[in-house]
Amino acid sequence: MAVKTIQEKDIRSTLQPIIERYRGKRGAVIPVLQQAQEAFGHLPRAVLIFIANELSIPLAEIYSVVSFYAQFTTVPVGRHRLEICTGTACYVKGAQKLLEQLEEKLHLEPGQVSADGRFSLGTTRCVGACSAAPVLKIGEELYGEFTAEKMDRLLDQLDRQNAPGPR
Ligand code: FES
Repeated sequence: MAVKTIQEKDIRSTLQPIIERYRGKRGAVIPVLQQAQEAFGHLPRAVLIFIANELSIPLAEIYSVVSFYAQFTTVPVGRHRLEICTGTACYVKGAQKLLEQLEEKLHLEPGQVSADGRFSLGTTRCVGACSAAPVLKIGEELYGEFTAEKMDRLLDQLDRQNAPGPR
């Protein structure tokens, strides 16, 4: 999918007020990153560079925070962010097969976003619910003992959520 480039002026006008709120405060990085992600949907390099410069923090440090916390993403994500856990327990219980089925149904490969921006597909490390393997994560929700049948129902449900008009 073609990703719209975020302009330098948009970064400045969006982030400057956020940064001013936190400038000089301890622990500013995480709330600034959270609000930047909320504004742009993800944290591209240009946004991280701007934050690093404004907060006078090395870019490498900003990157290490972004990669440490699962809530942050440097790549665009869909409105529904589907991630199959590929940790050992889930792998043993068929996570790979589920991932392939999701790829087929959504016409996406891991790391991609659907053209309409509704879905993104990816994998994640162990999410700490191994007894319920295999696990699908959608946003912050976990769906345990996931099966191909559950997948169909869930995708229908998500499709209805995406439908325009009253629900
Ligand atoms: S391996 Fe998937 S939840 Fe632990």
